[in-house]
Amino acid sequence: MLSSREEYQIMYNSEEKLWWYKILHEKILNEIVIKFGQNRNVKILDAGCGTGGLMSFLMKQGYNNIEGFDFSEDAVSFCKERKLKVQQIDLTSFDSEFVDSSFDIIINNDVLYQFEDEIIIKAIKNLEKKLKPSGIMISNNNAFDIFYGTHDIAVGGLQRFTKADFEKYLKQTELKINSYSYWSLFLSPLILSVRLLQQLQLKFNMIRENEIRSDVSVPGNFVNKTLYSIVKLEERIFRNGGFGSSLFLVMIKK
Ligand SMILES: C[S@@+](CC[C@H](N)C(=O)[O-])C[C@H]1O[C@@H](n2cnc3c(N)ncnc32)[C@H](O)[C@@H]1O
Repeated sequence: MLSSREEYQIMYNSEEKLWWYKILHEKILNEIVIKFGQNRNVKILDAGCGTGGLMSFLMKQGYNNIEGFDFSEDAVSFCKERKLKVQQIDLTSFDSEFVDSSFDIIINNDVLYQFEDEIIIKAIKNLEKKLKPSGIMISNNNAFDIFYGTHDIAVGGLQRFTKADFEKYLKQTELKINSYSYWSLFLSPLILSVRLLQQLQLKFNMIRENEIRSDVSVPGNFVNKTLYSIVKLEERIFRNGGFGSSLFLVMIKK
């Protein structure tokens, strides 16, 4: 979980503005429309919903059959400020809270990085059980070890992923990968330069503990809009990006 209420406050304040969240939310909407067309009544669960920015975005798009959960009391209280239907539940050990095979879509964004493989498989199995046959699970996660940086430390990250990791996890489930992409290819040189410098600084103890914080903060308007436009351009050129610091997966229940 994030280390303080302040981190959730930063997330809450950034979710509707930061280019990264905007891109991610639009990616998810796009996948929902690809699978379910204009049906806005699909039942959606956001597992590890944080402060509820995605749920709020989807509700504005007309998806009202949506609920979420998070294990953090702070996250849940921010969701309640947004008037969302959210409970405090642990992803790694829940069952009776939701009806089996009842959701069309389950979303699980950037939660698994803090667990060992065994717990990740358990969490995926817990979610799979709540998904309808032919339902989809959408999961965005931090990708490739080479992008390791101070952000990983700040959010308590244990690992970064590749598609191969998920293929291994899903072997023990009835889910299969329907589509995937890494993003953002175009921003990779920039992100990589920053992260490689951080790795050097960490190696030589050049960063103090109190200087380590997450990357979640909204830059100035010009930079924010430029980064958003670069990723949008990338998406127009490549449907499935081959490299980037995030792995976006759509899985389907057989
Ligand atoms: C990086 S945030 C991502 C939040 C949100 N999914 C998003 O995309 O903005 C990780 C979230 O996972 C939640 N979390 C951590 N451990 C959890 C657990 N065992 N069960 C449910 N949520 C958990 C944290 O409280 C935090 O809100």
